[in-house]
Amino acid sequence: MSGELSPIDKAKFVASKRAADYVEDGMRVGLGTGSTAAWLVRCLGERVREEGLRFKGVPTSTRTAELAREVGINVVSLDEARWLDITIDGADEFDAEFNLIKGGGGALLQEKIVATASDQMIVISDASKRVEHLGAFPLPIEVIPFGWQTTQALVEELLVSVDVMGRRSTLRMSGAAPYITDEGNHIIDLHLERIGDARQLAMVLNQVPGVVENGLFVDICDTVIMGFGDGRIELRDINTGAVETEKLDFVETDNLFADIGDWKND
Ligand code: A5P
Repeated sequence: MSGELSPIDKAKFVASKRAADYVEDGMRVGLGTGSTAAWLVRCLGERVREEGLRFKGVPTSTRTAELAREVGINVVSLDEARWLDITIDGADEFDAEFNLIKGGGGALLQEKIVATASDQMIVISDASKRVEHLGAFPLPIEVIPFGWQTTQALVEELLVSVDVMGRRSTLRMSGAAPYITDEGNHIIDLHLERIGDARQLAMVLNQVPGVVENGLFVDICDTVIMGFGDGRIELRDINTGAVETEKLDFVETDNLFADIGDWKND
């Protein structure tokens, strides 16, 4: 590997490369969104081209769909696939119970639908995503544009009665305009600092009219594959309690890394 990649990118790459091994011929596979998931899509594209791997990929955002098509993956919609064998995606935070915060990339709604419709969900990450308590990363909620300020006020009121440390919320912006999701909605980021009860919070947030979905993934993730900058990989399975460590020896290939500058920060 040359000096082109940062240790974090190397960590994301080795986790993604290992996760790509889980995909088998004939599978229906949910493809996550974000910089780590972009590595995964590239790794799967390489397997399609070099090994003739055949599977159907269900992307969780328009940008993942574009990348997947570009690297040769057979892209289908969730309605075509109906149910998935596996979903592989990044996360913004995960705790010891594999509760997740997702949505930093704004794709939480499709990500949650796709992950929930899967027999298995694997999270790929670098070590910076592992936390003792969720909440340092702002929790995104997707809200419909109609009356979003009223929805924001209702959510802030609700936060008074749940176990969180911070209660500030901000509308996510894209330049001078509100960020728009693939579904045409807005994102409000909740600066909670520490979430005491992720399960309860996930349930009550979705009771607020105007909230479409929140970025807490509870009881959805089965396996975490965590990469390190030196090529080590740690695999943890919540169902079996198994923890395995491996080391990936890899070389930078023209195919996979040639256009890295174009997509590594997707
Ligand atoms: C996208 O909406 C998110 O859920 C991402 O999966 C999450 O933000 C992780 O992204 P990175 O892999 O870029 O850190």
